[in-house]
This record gives sequence, structure tokens and C-alpha cells, in this order.
Amino acid sequence: MTIETEKRENYEIKDLSLKEEGLRTMEWAASRMPVLQLIKKRFEDEKPFKGVRIGACLHVTKETSQLCEAWLAGGAEVYLCASNPLSSQDEITAALVSKGVNVYAWKFMDTEGYYRAIANVIKSQPHITIDDGADLVSILHKLKRGETDEEIEIVKKVLGDDTDIIDGVWGGAEETTTGIIRLQAMADDGALLYPIMATNSSPSKNLFDNVYGTGQSSIDGILRATADLIASKVFVIAGYGHCGKGVAMRAKGMGARRVIITEIEPHAALQAVMEGMEVMPMIEAAKIADIIITATGCKDVVRKEHFEVMKTNCNLSNTGHFNVEINIPDLESLAVDKVRIRPFVDQYTLKDGKKINLLGEGRLINLAAAEGHSPEIMDTSFALQALATEYIVENKEQLKNIGGNVIQIPDDIDSNVAYLKCEAIGINLEVLTPEQEKYLSSWRVGT
Ligand SMILES: NC(=O)c1ccc[n+]([C@@H]2O[C@H](COP(=O)([O-])OP(=O)(O)OC[C@H]3O[C@@H](n4cnc5c(N)ncnc54)[C@H](O)[C@@H]3O)[C@@H](O)[C@H]2O)c1
Repeated sequence: MTIETEKRENYEIKDLSLKEEGLRTMEWAASRMPVLQLIKKRFEDEKPFKGVRIGACLHVTKETSQLCEAWLAGGAEVYLCASNPLSSQDEITAALVSKGVNVYAWKFMDTEGYYRAIANVIKSQPHITIDDGADLVSILHKLKRGETDEEIEIVKKVLGDDTDIIDGVWGGAEETTTGIIRLQAMADDGALLYPIMATNSSPSKNLFDNVYGTGQSSIDGILRATADLIASKVFVIAGYGHCGKGVAMRAKGMGARRVIITEIEPHAALQAVMEGMEVMPMIEAAKIADIIITATGCKDVVRKEHFEVMKTNCNLSNTGHFNVEINIPDLESLAVDKVRIRPFVDQYTLKDGKKINLLGEGRLINLAAAEGHSPEIMDTSFALQALATEYIVENKEQLKNIGGNVIQIPDDIDSNVAYLKCEAIGINLEVLTPEQEKYLSSWRVGT
């Protein structure tokens, strides 16, 4: 399905007339993101991004609109494309254009549109890249290496011969686990050409966004897609990392009869068992599952042999970054029929008459069928992104010496975000007495 878009030099979106709805939704998000508002206020006064071009490839949601507003307040020129073909909120893209952001995103982008949007962001010659899944960084590097493939051909249609843009980039930041894995692999191969701050690796991000954000919003996505009951169901989660833990916790809370985990890593498997869940291989779990969700960052987690043993009417979804966790070509090859039975449910009928329901085309279910993480969660994640961006500007000369490496956001920035969030939601902390501080930093005192 190709969606008609409105195109100008500074945007390609679905429909600019959705602006008013988007502005109201942005206000709603702003009122739930107090930490980011504080940072935005400071940026407004200090203008740290004067003359800076920021190119961002993110889920274009109401929460992302607040990060863009913080950058704009700081004086940046902002260029934004989608990090997933299904996750853009069309009213938000319209509102952002009206605020002066250059936006290239719409819901249900096809492959051509997705890479054309990335190309438009690259065309702006960004000083800083912000990614969610490393697609922007990856394309910039492929262009530099002179590689060609289907994606690059699309990108070149926008850029023409002007493809060597990476040398002007000071640094970047990455939002998600899968992006960090890709970037670390590039750094290990000596292929990464500029430093990237690993926003996802900060405790203020992955302890909250990945766990509680993904936990709640993935269940929300499954419910919005299917309207099915979770109580009484056998709920299978592949991967018991940050995201899997969050989903498992919420599935249990919604009354799932059995919560089953599949894992490849022994500590994660043991943690799941200690939390009262069952652990088994997917080939066993698939036989009894009513609902399956993948949260691994790996590929082919659910594949041919699993589809073959599933019960009829199994709901299948993914909340990992890319749509490779469920092997959709395998499912297509087994199916004799496919019907879009609800907006985010494709029902496949197999040769024996069995029905399998694929939710959200196997893409991040929380962003495809629901609205992604709540603003309260994205408040801290995007506060970190805003401060990482400022850090890159302030340290651009030193970052040249770091070169192509994945680096951590400094601890003081990370803990400052956590302190500000505590303050914003009225959590008062204990303060160490001088004696306690001394005790905790001394090795001389025992019992
Ligand atoms: N839906 C969202 O909004 C959202 C938010 C954050 C992260 N993510 C994405 O979710 C994925 C997981 O992120 P995370 O932070 O939980 O990562 P993580 O590394 O904390 O956890 C992944 C877990 O999956 C396990 N695993 C890997 N391959 C497996 C396989 N084949 N079968 C079973 N288990 C397997 C690993 O052992 C690990 O415990 C990534 O792709 C990440 O980018 C999505």
C-alpha cells in the first residue's frame, strides 16, 4: 500500500491539516514530561545549538515532538525522519512542521518512502545524528564506503552525487538496544567513523523505558490490535532481558494463566524461574501458546517449525526493534490464505485450516498498534538524548580524538536525569550524613 503524501522542500508528511490535533496532543505530552521541559527552558535561555543541524531518525510520536521542541528552543535546525514505517503519528508530523521542524515521516511508509525520508535528513548535512536502531548511521557509512544496494539506490535519487556527508558529523546518539549492538559491531570492525553516545546503555534509560515502557505499551498494542482477554491465556515471551521482563510482569498482572519465557542465556532463564515463570524452548512453548511476543533483538526466533506446531488462533507479535524476530517469509510460505481481519491483524490460514494471527506486520507492536511508550517514560529517555546532544556540541573537539567508538553518557548526566525525575514526581531521597559518607568510602571499618 502506497500512501499519498504532501511534499515540500522542508517536509514530506501525510496531511498538514492535521496540525491542530497534533498541537493539542503535543500539549498533552508536554504536561507529562517535566524533566524535558526543565531542560527545554534552560536551552531556551542558553541557546547551546545555535547554528547546529540535528538529523534525527526516531519514532515520530508525541513524545519525540517534545525532544524536537527542546532542540528548537536551544537554537537548532532539526531534520526528522521515521525509524519505523508504522510508528509515525500523522497529526504530530503536521504539528512539528508548523513549529519549524523539517519532517519526513508518515504512517505506513513503504520501503521507497522510508529511505527517501532518511535521505532528506542526510541531505541537510547534520552535525549530529540521533538514531533509534542505527539506520541513519548505517546509510551514512554505506554512502561513504561507496556501497550500493536497493536502499542506497533510493537514497542517491535524493542526494545525487553529493554523498560524502559523514565528514561533517561531530557525533551521534543511539536510543535502542538493537542500535547499540549494530554500532558496537561496526566499532569492533573499525568501520564506525564517528563517536556515538549509547543513550540506551544509561540506567536512566534501560531500567525504565525498556522495562516499564515496553512492558505496558506492548500489552497495550496487543490489546488495541485484538481486543482479546489476557486473563486465562498462555502468554509466551521470547527473551527475558529488559523488555521481556517488563512484558512478563504486565502479562502476569493482567491474569495470564501461564507466563512462559524462552531464553538462550542462563542467568536470564534463572531469573525468570525465580520470578515464578516457566522457561522452555520455543518449540515446546509454541504448542501451547495463545499469545506469543518476541523481545530479543535476534532474528528467526519464531519460524517454520514453530508455526507448524502452533494452536489455531495464536496471536503472534514482536516488540524487538526490527521485523525479523518472526520469520514472516516462512509464515507466508506455509499459508494458503491471508486476510487483514482487523487493522493491525493479518490472519494467515495454513494448509490444515489452522489460523495464525500476525499483529502489526511483525513490527514493534507497541508503536504499530498503540502509541509507544507513555510520555512519563520518554521524559527521562529524551532528557538523556537532549543532554547527550548538548554534550556532543560542548565536546566536539575532544570527540574527534575518540573517533569511531560507542561511548557512555557520563554518569553525572545520567544521575542528574534520575534526580530531576524524582524531584518532578515528588520522591524525596535520604541524604547521607558525613559519618555515613566516610563509612561507605572507607575499607578500615568493619563490624
Ligand atoms: N518495543 C520497544 O519500544 C522497545 C524499547 C526498547 C528496546 N526495544 C528493542 O527490544 C529488543 C530487546 O531489547 P532489550 O533491551 O530487552 O535487550 P536485552 O539484551 O536486555 O534482552 C534481550 C534478551 O533476549 C535474549 N535472546 C536473544 N536471542 C534470543 C533467542 N533467539 N531466543 C530467546 N531469547 C533470546 C537474550 O539472552 C536477552 O536476555 C531490542 O531489539 C531493542 O532494540 C524495543
